[in-house]
Amino acid sequence: LQTEAVEKINEAQDLKELNNIRVAYLGKKGPVTEVLKGMGKLSAEERPKMGALANEVRGAITEKIEAKQEKLEKEAVEKKLQSETIDVTLPGRPVRKGNHHPLIMIIEEIEDLFIGMGYTVAEGPEVEKDYYNFEALNLPKGHPARDMQDSFYITEETLLRTHTSPVQARTMELAKGKGPIKIICPGKVYRRDTDDATHSHQFMQIEGLVVDKDIRMSDLKGTLNVFAKKMFGEDREIRLRPSFFPFTEPSVEMDISCKICGGEGCRVCKGTGWIEILGAGMVHPNVLEMAGFDPKVYTGFAFGMGPERIAMLKYGIDDIRHFYTNDTRFVTQFNVTE
Ligand code: PHE
Repeated sequence: LQTEAVEKINEAQDLKELNNIRVAYLGKKGPVTEVLKGMGKLSAEERPKMGALANEVRGAITEKIEAKQEKLEKEAVEKKLQSETIDVTLPGRPVRKGNHHPLIMIIEEIEDLFIGMGYTVAEGPEVEKDYYNFEALNLPKGHPARDMQDSFYITEETLLRTHTSPVQARTMELAKGKGPIKIICPGKVYRRDTDDATHSHQFMQIEGLVVDKDIRMSDLKGTLNVFAKKMFGEDREIRLRPSFFPFTEPSVEMDISCKICGGEGCRVCKGTGWIEILGAGMVHPNVLEMAGFDPKVYTGFAFGMGPERIAMLKYGIDDIRHFYTNDTRFVTQFNVTE
């Protein structure tokens, strides 16, 4: 019996198997217990002999089991340790990072450019008063130029701003007739346009405003020239064309020279050699006056541009809707800043 048990113990692969052997040989119904239970039936002579033998067998088996158990436990711990070791020399798993939206990157680039020229960044509400969006900008009720900017009205007196120019009016009003003012105002604007490759009912604008004594058209031109060259490259030329905005007089539109231009068939400038970039002008005396500035003492210039259009030209993006559908394959392409 003992030899048989020892053989089985030696063969046991794991702790569970070993426990089964223990139960089988030493348990309540096991052969050793049976022998001990049957002692009463034996003669007085045989009893001590048999008892000693049974105890010996039990002791031997127990000892074997304990030794084997210790060995198996040790093996199990070792196996576990081995499976849990960490190879510190393995390269780490890449961490997925977010990235800036291309529009935010363009806006920050433009902001930095103007901050470098002494401007500060100003903001205004997107739900704007009719007064600041139109009236304070020399666009009284019924003015035909209001139709140029189909608006989303909220109430009769409030609307989603159609441009960032109301921030001009607000900033001048806060300055209480005292210059200088030198701000740029980035933000969202809204127009009742049907969305297509070049139109979006919501888009961004960046407004610039300078008000001080002795501000002249040449200051505007110089500023825009620096901006265009820094933004699009030193080899770009600018051109100012007469235009009309109710809040500037005179008003201009600025073009930059086309770099891609392959002549008539050029898809960027349509063969004209020039690409329209922004609207600008000298702040209209009425606008200065309404905001509490004396137009005989102070003059100023303002400009407004669309960062989408600038990003589209700079990166060769052909559809404005890419900016707002947020396909990560699109928005992760421009992550050049870290
Ligand atoms: N607000 C004008 C627009 O939305 C742009 C502009 C701003 C023109 C400032 C002149 C001066 O089109």
